[in-house]
Amino acid sequence: MIKLMSLACAAALALTATTAHAEGDAAKGERTFKKCKACHTIEQGGKNKVGPNLFGIVGQHGAHKEDFKYSKGYLKAADKIMWDEAAIDEYLQDPSKYLSKLAGEKVRSKMTFKLKGKKKADDRADVIAYLKTQK
Ligand code: HEC
Repeated sequence: MIKLMSLACAAALALTATTAHAEGDAAKGERTFKKCKACHTIEQGGKNKVGPNLFGIVGQHGAHKEDFKYSKGYLKAADKIMWDEAAIDEYLQDPSKYLSKLAGEKVRSKMTFKLKGKKKADDRADVIAYLKTQK
């Protein structure tokens, strides 16, 4: 009986995992990340470019890179930032809008790039899956 229950449980979990939000594909995400490379490095100890190095970014709090000069807009939101998957997904759709929401006033992010809309949802999920592997 216990075995049966845990089986049912595992099945339920598997179901919510696929319906709640599709897991991204890290290999595809690595390709999508080429677009980010104009402004970001990802390897450990990589230099900051226009944007900060993104090694280990998933799970970080705001403004964690002490050697990067974040924009004023970013810094107004920084103490509310926690870069979990949902936060990065929202940020990528419209960085300034996301920071404005957290800051409680209209601010601008220095990141001008967007992966906006439903059509880009897979790209975002894939690139986030890739970011998760870089830690
Ligand atoms: C045109 C340059 C540019 C591109 C392209 C770009 N970014 Fe950024 N990104 C920035 C800048 C600049 C910042 C710093 C934001 C600020 O200070 O307002 C940033 C910040 C970030 C942050 C927050 C980092 C931190 O330390 O808090 C994440 C996460 C991020 N970018 C992910 C991405 C991803 C993923 C892509 C590709 C899909 C991407 N960016 C493409 C310029 C860019």
